[in-house]
Amino acid sequence: MSLLIKNGRIITSSDDYIADIYIENEKIKQIGMGLSVKADQTIDATGKLIFPGGIDPHVHLDMPFMGTFSSDNYETGTGAALFGGTTMVIDFILQTQGKSLYDALKEWKGRSDGNAVGDYSFHMAVTDFNENTKAEIKDLIEKEGITSFKTFMAYKGALMIDDRQMVGLMNEVKKQGGMVTTHATNGDMIDYLVAKHRGEGKLSPLYHYLSQPEITEAEASGRFSDMAFQTGVTAYIVHMTCEGAHNHVRDAARRNQKVYAETCIQYLVLDASLYDKGFESAKWVMSPPLREKKDQASLWAGINQGSVQVVATDHCPFKWEQKKLGENDFSKIPNGHPAIEHRMELLFSEGVHKGKISLNKFVEVSSTNTAKIFGMYPRKGCISPGSDADLVIFDPNKQHTLSAKTHHMNCDYSGYEGWKVTGKCETVILRGEVAIQNNKLLVKKGYGQFIKRNKTTGII
Ligand code: URP
Ligand code: ZN
Ligand code: ZN
Repeated sequence: MSLLIKNGRIITSSDDYIADIYIENEKIKQIGMGLSVKADQTIDATGKLIFPGGIDPHVHLDMPFMGTFSSDNYETGTGAALFGGTTMVIDFILQTQGKSLYDALKEWKGRSDGNAVGDYSFHMAVTDFNENTKAEIKDLIEKEGITSFKTFMAYKGALMIDDRQMVGLMNEVKKQGGMVTTHATNGDMIDYLVAKHRGEGKLSPLYHYLSQPEITEAEASGRFSDMAFQTGVTAYIVHMTCEGAHNHVRDAARRNQKVYAETCIQYLVLDASLYDKGFESAKWVMSPPLREKKDQASLWAGINQGSVQVVATDHCPFKWEQKKLGENDFSKIPNGHPAIEHRMELLFSEGVHKGKISLNKFVEVSSTNTAKIFGMYPRKGCISPGSDADLVIFDPNKQHTLSAKTHHMNCDYSGYEGWKVTGKCETVILRGEVAIQNNKLLVKKGYGQFIKRNKTTGII
């Protein structure tokens, strides 16, 4: 199968030029002006932008969480991602406390194998670090290609590890050449505030927000950076939301330590005023919660200054019936919101179209940096001969409206209902196959591949 894309404006993290792209056997073979090759299929991309396929390194598909499962499985989740120009995701395996990491890997493979339409990889969330877990790290990195180890500094009693376990894990992961990532919020402080609010009968979604003030995230981000500094491990903070946490990441850079920081699209475009809508606010109950305008400003600045390298989603959808588990108690509302489909288009519309970021920066934070940080570059995250032909042909002028009526995520509401967006992923190509065209999904369940990742290089 070969494919020729003619006259597109190719945007990478560093370049911007018009050329043809010739694809054969899943890979980009040639890039040049006026290529005279014969192909099975030709697409005219005149007037369109061509981006590397988006990579979302923070999603939760078919995940058991808070007494239920996230509502997108590998088929619907990676399918919705493709509609939105994301050709690869990294999902989280959660170790069950008392069981092994390989037990968890087996469980997650049982749900993912043969079911994805888009490419995917796993982070391993270590929720119980001990001598047995420690012994599994090397094989996970070297045999399975799972090179990043997630920790939770919150969700006390279920997922949280203490600092002693954190330092032990960091030392082992450093030794084996991997990376430690974290959900950086202070679980004990949050636990106290949740109990306090419940004790006072303050049970609406607003109190989810008020139980996780900025200081809970800033404190944990600083503590995590300090432990990473002491152990020398490559470190990454997931879903960073606020100025206080960002200041710690900047402090780390000042002492020549690199702590990578990921934010998510919702923290750039939504704010805490959404917690003033009674129980409807459950749509935006996520951890950490949405923050203030000043935090959005800090995150956009960080993207431009290079202290925030990645924009993800933390896609963790629950249907309305599931959100109603917490109708009478905010602490029982499953945490998370649907976003996997909208990351690229919202980032383009709110970022590039509104003049906050350049086209090159858009590619950097939606694809290239993630491929580099998580050991997939240059197979993924770029448009170069030899790379996987994962491409988005994008109409920068097309206007459309986001809605649960038209989105492809398995969720019966949208956190972005009625949002007007400029720019649309028109054609999406995954490893040389046209996956999305004319608003239709053209690849089948099972086309998505598990991508083994390399050791972290720390090249950005
Ligand atoms: O609210 C969220 N973020 N749900 C998913 C789990 C996590 O903390 O990432
Ligand atoms: Zn989290
Ligand atoms: Zn998450």
